[in-house]
Amino acid sequence: MELLKQKIMKEGIVLSGQVLKVDSFLNHQMDPQLMMEMGREFARRFANEGVNRILTIESSGIAPAIMTALVMEVPMIFARKQKSLTLRDDIYVQEVFSFTKQEKNEITIAKKFIKPGDRVLIIDDFLAHGEAAFGLARIAEQAGAVVAGIGIVIEKSFQQGADKLSAAGYRVESLARIASLDNNEVRFVEE
Ligand code: G4P
Ligand code: NA
Ligand code: NA
Repeated sequence: MELLKQKIMKEGIVLSGQVLKVDSFLNHQMDPQLMMEMGREFARRFANEGVNRILTIESSGIAPAIMTALVMEVPMIFARKQKSLTLRDDIYVQEVFSFTKQEKNEITIAKKFIKPGDRVLIIDDFLAHGEAAFGLARIAEQAGAVVAGIGIVIEKSFQQGADKLSAAGYRVESLARIASLDNNEVRFVEE
């Protein structure tokens, strides 16, 4: 998505450790017009997948997910992150390990919000190692739902997440795909 790539080139900052800081429009301050355009683009790409639920994780996934849900006219559910949990039987729980932050979280979704036969579209802001997306997919499948697709704002294609999700059979659509952040420079995948 050209508009997003231009925004990344203009405002993205490459941090050491292969991390792209985009807190001026995605992870801290947010750009609602750009967010809306991203929602339209996800809705367009997944228009024929019969999506009836959008799934994401707090916090930065919520904005692109709600815009997509608004355009597709379906509900959006965000998984909650918790450090550790007293087990309860009315929630789905999956463990997600963050390589970027080197910490383990449990993500939870109330059982009443996903039902067998649902076709869920997973949306997230970043795709790195794919742990968050796999965690959401496992919850959807635990509920008897089908993962209709995975929509990502910024994919770091030089890390393993996108390949692993595709190999597992999921349709992944990323609005910007980054080939490399070497030498403090953003290089996009040629498409
Ligand atoms: P994974 O889910 O693909 O395996 O990613 P990973 O665990 O490595 O990422 C952990 C957190 O770091 C996630 O945010 C993810 O969005 C974010 N992240 C990963 N790489 C980058 C990057 O290059 N730039 C930025 N800005 N974020 C990155 P989170 O912990 O869920 O936090 P939140 O922002 O949603 O609150
Ligand atoms: Na994030
Ligand atoms: Na995220």
